[in-house]
Amino acid sequence: MIGDDPVLRAAYRHCRQRTKEQDRAEYALIQLVPPALRPACWALWAAANAIDDLADDRTAPAAERAARVEQWITALELELTTGASTDPVRHALVDTALRWSLDLSELHDAMALVQDDAHGRRFADWSAWRSWGRDTLLPWFDQVRDLFDRAGVPVALRLDTQEIYETFLDGVRLTDILTDLSADLAQGDLLLPDVALDRYANAAGDLADLRWSPAVSSLIAHLIGLARRWVTQPALTRGMHPGPATILTTMADLLRAQLDAISHAGPALLRTPPQPGLLTSARILAPARTRAALAWTLTPVTVPSQYHPARPSALPTAQAARSGPFSAPPPHPAGHRAPQIPAEHLPLHVAVIMDGNGRWAQQRGLPRHAGHQAGAAAMRETVHGALEIGLRHLTLYIFSTENWKRDAEEVDAILDVVRGELTDNPFRDLDVHMRWHGRTGKLPTDVVDLLRRRERTTRTRTGLTLTMCINYGGRDEITRTAAALAPHLRGGQLDPDHLSEKDFARHLPHPDMPDVDLLWRTGGEQRTSNFLPWHTAYAEIHFTPDYWPDIDRRHLWHAITEYTHRQRRHGAAPTPPSTTFAS
Ligand code: IPE
Ligand code: IPE
Ligand code: MG
Repeated sequence: MIGDDPVLRAAYRHCRQRTKEQDRAEYALIQLVPPALRPACWALWAAANAIDDLADDRTAPAAERAARVEQWITALELELTTGASTDPVRHALVDTALRWSLDLSELHDAMALVQDDAHGRRFADWSAWRSWGRDTLLPWFDQVRDLFDRAGVPVALRLDTQEIYETFLDGVRLTDILTDLSADLAQGDLLLPDVALDRYANAAGDLADLRWSPAVSSLIAHLIGLARRWVTQPALTRGMHPGPATILTTMADLLRAQLDAISHAGPALLRTPPQPGLLTSARILAPARTRAALAWTLTPVTVPSQYHPARPSALPTAQAARSGPFSAPPPHPAGHRAPQIPAEHLPLHVAVIMDGNGRWAQQRGLPRHAGHQAGAAAMRETVHGALEIGLRHLTLYIFSTENWKRDAEEVDAILDVVRGELTDNPFRDLDVHMRWHGRTGKLPTDVVDLLRRRERTTRTRTGLTLTMCINYGGRDEITRTAAALAPHLRGGQLDPDHLSEKDFARHLPHPDMPDVDLLWRTGGEQRTSNFLPWHTAYAEIHFTPDYWPDIDRRHLWHAITEYTHRQRRHGAAPTPPSTTFAS
């Protein structure tokens, strides 16, 4: 399916070879994937390893290695807009991205972390270790899942829970680290958290000296146990299409065989990377091949047909006007510009109850779901307007814990709109950090999965924080906060007689969310409907009659301009504008 282009074929061949030489198990897993998807897998795998290798290449000083990774990433970004590269791995990766409409911008942060790896890493505890591991690994796995989605075999939809999946990947990471221990130690690296090392007196020192002491032996046994537990997740593939399920269970089998090999290696672990015997691997892979082949006959994959390799505009990044690493929001359709309001006069946080979708639709003789669909465009407009005026925090009420009372059909329609927006990802090139506020509850797992992904991939963005309240309820938020506080009160870390508002706020689900300065509700109702009770305690309130789908960014600008004329007192006596008590 790659076509006749000899350069492109050579690029994919290079990726395939690189995968085969560097990771036998990975190569074998990719052989379980239908042939049409394999080149994309080789390209992704080779790319992840190419930048790892740049960061690890000890023949160069740390700064030089970091610079090489950065150059690689910058070159990729440019090449995604031109559609070609002189580097074979990037050439194959760019082709894969265009062919399968993958959003490689989601890999940016993971790649940038590898750049920092060049300077060495220390982790205080498992939670720091885990977040580094997940941030560097998950986005690559997400790309593979997207690939399966595009091929008509959705993996995301069937995942039981995100946590199981992420724990599995922690196990993948830990097994990798144990396998590569000798190479890492030779370079003076030890990618394990201090808390794990500190459990065994002087294990870190012995490892650095390549001494197989009782402490090191116990540490390794402990880590093997953890990794084995993490990769053993029977619920991971429950309900999943048998194709990806076979790949994941085979991956887990190979990881356990790898952990056996690590365990048998003993002191040799400090000198060479262990590998399971060929017979062991064959015993796992032979039946897996049969199962995978059968699974793919059930759902033949679909390959994108309208692919024109010479048309890089398939990637939205290529078209948008860029300012620095981010694009500017598209201008207002009629050319209206944001009022110039000095930053110190802007509200820090605007929260919006986007109401009136149903009535907007009814007014036009349309079903309610048409109103929700139209509401999505108004939401995009509002985000663009927020960026243009320079707002820092925008919080949108999208679906409340009370909205489950509506017909299943309407609930599905609303969640479909949410799913569609998260999938389209219209803010991918904008400086928008997306967050989700709400509870999992009855939300479909794929929606939760998408929300977490968007959160993860935009986490380092600093322009506008867009908090999406989905399955959000104010009382639920307060109740959950109380539940989070309870153990600290019981354990004595907090004293109930001296519990302060600050103590309470620190346990809110989003403790860093600032108070709402301006609460705006469209649709004519004058109530707050269980929205952000803690944060809106002193908010200025703005009610407007228009139905949400009729909103464009000018309405937000108007609300903000209006806010700048309010006098806020927070309980103090009014101060006359030009006089002070001293004069
Ligand atoms: C707001 O519009 C959207 C959601 C609550 C999900 P509505 O659907 O509440 O519209 P009206 O208030 O019925 O017009
Ligand atoms: C509030 O609107 C919830 C959202 C906008 C998501 P509702 O339409 O659900 O509120 P009520 O029922 O009129 O109070
Ligand atoms: Mg309503």
